[in-house]
Amino acid sequence: MGELSSKTGWWAWSTKKKVLIFGTIGFIVVALGVGLGAGLGIGLNSGDDDNDSGGNDTGSGTNTTVPTNTTVKWKPAAGTKWQIVLKYPLNDTSIDAPIYDIDLFDNPKSIISELQGMGRKVICYFSAGTYEDWRSDANDFDKADLGKNLDDWPGEKWLNLQSTSVRKIMQKRLDLAVTKGCDGVDPDNIDGYDNDNGLGLTQAMSIDYVNWLATQSHNRGLSLGLKNGGDIIGSVIGNMQWSVNEQCAQYNECDTYAAFIDADKPVFHIEYPKGDTNNDISVTTKQVSSACTASSSGNFSTVIKNMNLNNWVEYCP
Ligand SMILES: *[C@@H]1O[C@H](CO)[C@@H](O)[C@H](O)[C@H]1NC(C)=O
Ligand SMILES: *[C@@H]1O[C@H](CO)[C@@H](O)[C@H](O)[C@H]1NC(C)=O
Ligand SMILES: *[C@@H]1O[C@H](CO)[C@@H](O)[C@H](O)[C@H]1NC(C)=O
Ligand SMILES: *[C@@H]1O[C@H](CO)[C@@H](O)[C@H](O)[C@H]1NC(C)=O
Ligand SMILES: *[C@@H]1O[C@H](CO)[C@@H](O)[C@H](O)[C@H]1NC(C)=O
Repeated sequence: MGELSSKTGWWAWSTKKKVLIFGTIGFIVVALGVGLGAGLGIGLNSGDDDNDSGGNDTGSGTNTTVPTNTTVKWKPAAGTKWQIVLKYPLNDTSIDAPIYDIDLFDNPKSIISELQGMGRKVICYFSAGTYEDWRSDANDFDKADLGKNLDDWPGEKWLNLQSTSVRKIMQKRLDLAVTKGCDGVDPDNIDGYDNDNGLGLTQAMSIDYVNWLATQSHNRGLSLGLKNGGDIIGSVIGNMQWSVNEQCAQYNECDTYAAFIDADKPVFHIEYPKGDTNNDISVTTKQVSSACTASSSGNFSTVIKNMNLNNWVEYCP
């Protein structure tokens, strides 16, 4: 948490968080005082602790799996086939899949309506945990909320998930998803804690953020899923309608995501057997086998894709 102790980071935090932190510090101080018998007479604790429950509940919490709004319009079943295209605006609806995951910004309302007219549901992708310098709302971000660059994605930086400003921008993006008629959203990059992010992001912050996104989405009639983030599944799964996972077969961690199948929620699973080579060439039998037969991946909704997520797709036999 080193870098967040800067003044800018601190002021960006919500009052509730500050109260929580003061409460925690107070608790630690008291515990130390008692434990060491040192008689530290600092009166930080009780007053602040009392305020803890008095804040405006925005649906956050460190381990909340029950949202403030449990009304969820659309709950796809485990095993449902899907297609994902993020590389460009969708221009190929020929894949016979009942669910399409496409970019929120790049696609017009018309293609979303067209897919829905074909009886399909549409999940709209956006990055919830990174700044992308090419987006139409990029100027809305406060510089103080930007962390380190993402290694493999030029123009992207990690975001301070606790920032009120960041959360307001995400609310606007959810409003855009409503305007465009999306059935659900695919908020990406919520696992900054697992990366060199420069902001001191923790799992607890991601849990709070993802559950907050769930409340915000559900209030707008949008479903949502957890993107990657295997470490926090237990603390958010109750609020999620699916999982979107990349490369669990490659990294031998599909068993982690099988928790969603057990809850009859889809695991929209992507493997990239060609690495960073993007082409329209079919994968080998061996590559299909590694993508499709990973331990615990039964009933996953697996797609074999190019890393650039263009139209090209193959499915498990
Ligand atoms: C507290 O929540 C209420 C109801 O959701 C909202 O109208 C109000 O603006 C919130 N206040 C603050 C300070 O966030
Ligand atoms: C879709 O658009 C991309 C980018 O413009 C283009 O390369 C591709 O050929 C198009 N595909 C179809 C089926 O029109
Ligand atoms: C809960 O979400 C539904 C849409 O899914 C919405 O109609 C309803 O107003 C929301 N309830 C609250 C209390 O926000
Ligand atoms: C939250 O609860 C889940 C299940 O109830 C548990 O597996 C998980 O470890 C908890 N997470 C934290 C951060 O306490
Ligand atoms: C897949 O789902 C079906 C229907 O729910 C179930 O009968 C089957 O056991 C599941 N298979 C695996 C491998 O989980």
